[in-house]
Amino acid sequence: MLTAGGSADRDRHGRVDIPTVDELLSTTRAVRKRLDVTRPVERGVILECLQLATQAPTASNNQDWRWVVVTDADKRAAIAEIYNSVGEQYLAHAASTAEDTQTRRVYQSAATLTAILADVPVHVIPCIEKRVEGVPLVAAASAWASIIPAAWSFLLALRSRGLGSVWTTLHLAKEREVAELLGIPQTVTQVALLPVAYTIGTDFKPAARPPVQTITSWNGWGLS
Ligand SMILES: Cc1cc2nc3c(=O)[nH]c(=O)nc-3n(C[C@H](O)[C@H](O)[C@H](O)COP(=O)(O)O)c2cc1C
Repeated sequence: MLTAGGSADRDRHGRVDIPTVDELLSTTRAVRKRLDVTRPVERGVILECLQLATQAPTASNNQDWRWVVVTDADKRAAIAEIYNSVGEQYLAHAASTAEDTQTRRVYQSAATLTAILADVPVHVIPCIEKRVEGVPLVAAASAWASIIPAAWSFLLALRSRGLGSVWTTLHLAKEREVAELLGIPQTVTQVALLPVAYTIGTDFKPAARPPVQTITSWNGWGLS
């Protein structure tokens, strides 16, 4: 297992392999249709990626990320049922009515996930050991930012090992149902559901994004 301090090749300026890192950062896509539901995922690779994820920061160094990994087929089916009860009709409708091609493609892909979710071999639910209802902005932002960067690192680590996932949140509309299924205490907040599998092929492309200059201000909002 990789531990803190794992070493990477560096050039003479001390830089890590920038092309490889940039490829990882720009091609970690939402993977749904290319999740290989036929290939088992080893417990070790999940633990390795979670270990890397816990290098992410937490507010006050609380290290209060918690991960619930679900491999049990009945529990995955139950989670998929809850997810689909929130999302299936909504996504199918959105997929058939979206006017813009890219949006329609995203909804079609999301609708595809509803059909295979139960079969995706691993469901990972990143959690934070606190609740955020009604807390001041600084506390809420600290809580979310103490788990979401770690969960994203988990997805990056998966990608580097030939696995993929997609950030999903729909089941959170019925968070308590999933909490009861998995015995997650009421003091804990789930932040996402990450269905994990090896990917079918590993060639993913950067997505279309606006030029960063159009969304960046310098020295004040809207200033260039
Ligand atoms: C906060 C958040 C919530 C999301 N929720 C869902 C979801 O419930 N179901 C789903 O299929 N995709 C979900 N997505 C994935 C987005 O649709 C996807 O990231 C987006 O279309 C861009 O695709 P890309 O990540 O490949 O660039 C979510 C993404 C984010 C960041």
